[in-house]
Amino acid sequence: MKVIIAKDYDAMCRRAADLLFAQVVLKPESVLGLATGSTPCGIYAQLVEKYNAGDIDFSRVKTVNLDEYVGLPVENDQSYRYYMNSNLFSKVNVLSDNTNLPNGLARDVSAECERYDGLIKELGGVDMQLLGIGLNGHIGFNEPNDVFDKGTHCVNLTKSTIEANARFFKSIDEVPKQAITMGIKTIMMAKKIILAINGEKKKEIAKAAIYGPVTPKVPASILQMHPDVTVVLDEAAAELIK
Ligand code: GLP
Repeated sequence: MKVIIAKDYDAMCRRAADLLFAQVVLKPESVLGLATGSTPCGIYAQLVEKYNAGDIDFSRVKTVNLDEYVGLPVENDQSYRYYMNSNLFSKVNVLSDNTNLPNGLARDVSAECERYDGLIKELGGVDMQLLGIGLNGHIGFNEPNDVFDKGTHCVNLTKSTIEANARFFKSIDEVPKQAITMGIKTIMMAKKIILAINGEKKKEIAKAAIYGPVTPKVPASILQMHPDVTVVLDEAAAELIK
């Protein structure tokens, strides 16, 4: 793992955005694996800035997102499709047909999971996958477990994730209890991975993910086994690993 420590959140976002930027410049038809949550907001803002400056072209880029809540329509401002449209897709020249998220409203969820893995395969795999990390070490929505989950699947969100994500909803009762997520195998098949971590709250989990034992109890720890991972942290998140 390559570890980059940036001064603060803005600097962390610039470093992560630079890696995505370089990926698209070097391979304009890249397949980008994208993430949601508060961490990547500033990274997307940086990419939008580069696009507005005329430095990056998304017209041949294809995107696949990590996950989507089950049961939220795309118009719901907490759906991950809504998040991606408002933070990135509507602000750059990516073609809407080239943007993909799991369909959280699919009637047949297991068929949808199969479709999503098939789609990623058809696209030739993910060139660069951006990841955030949950307080409990989840990546995508792969929650701590006894085994590493493999392909795209439906998960029951843990109490800690529901509580952590309640800040985005009017009340905790509105937080969906399930999500469709790329599995650990799907994520590990990406050619390159960027893991972005910021904030004091994440310092313990950052240390466990980067230097702790590889265990499904800390799903992000599996990234230690991937050949091309760059972890970009701000100083607050890096406090225990400096
Ligand atoms: C969500 C997402 C993850 C994200 C994580 C952390 O539950 N499914 O992809 O990395 O939470 O979010 P945040 O960046 O807001 O801390």
